[in-house]
Amino acid sequence: MYSRLNRLFMIALAGFLWISTSGFSPLVNAEQGGAKSSNPFYENRKAAETGEELFGRNCQQCHNSRGKGGKAPQLVRGSWGPGGANSDTYMYQIITSGVPGKIMGGFGSSLSQEEIWQIVTFLRAEGKRVKAVPASDSDDEQIW
Ligand code: HEC
Repeated sequence: MYSRLNRLFMIALAGFLWISTSGFSPLVNAEQGGAKSSNPFYENRKAAETGEELFGRNCQQCHNSRGKGGKAPQLVRGSWGPGGANSDTYMYQIITSGVPGKIMGGFGSSLSQEEIWQIVTFLRAEGKRVKAVPASDSDDEQIW
């Protein structure tokens, strides 16, 4: 009896090891926002500051508002937040090309590639800042 259980255990263990090393695990494969970024300014503070200025001039009138809900979606939480599903590259592409048929136009001709990456860097930094604010401290002025 004991050895039979033991064998079952070994089979289960082997199966578990196979699954966890075979790349089947979605946790290992998911492309996470910020991780493995192709952003040349990844986590660069100076770039984030420049990005904040650029965001203020080009995006804030729609994506404003740190919580007040502007005309456009927030870009720092959920799938856009730290570890969220949307990659830096995806964000970069939307900013460059816009969203077809929506008022979100592409900035590929008015901003340089460098400037677009600086905006991405700012939004990523902002996402981390927003996440770090404890929920009990959150108010509309601080969080969006
Ligand atoms: C004229 C208003 C306007 C401006 C200016 C604008 N956006 Fe948008 N943006 C929108 C709207 C509206 C959407 C949602 C489109 C849709 O319905 O899918 C959007 C969508 C997006 C998305 C995708 C969001 C999502 O969850 O699908 C990103 C990223 C984005 N904008 C970034 C930017 C950045 C960065 C700038 C400045 C360089 C900018 N936008 C400027 C209106 C604007």
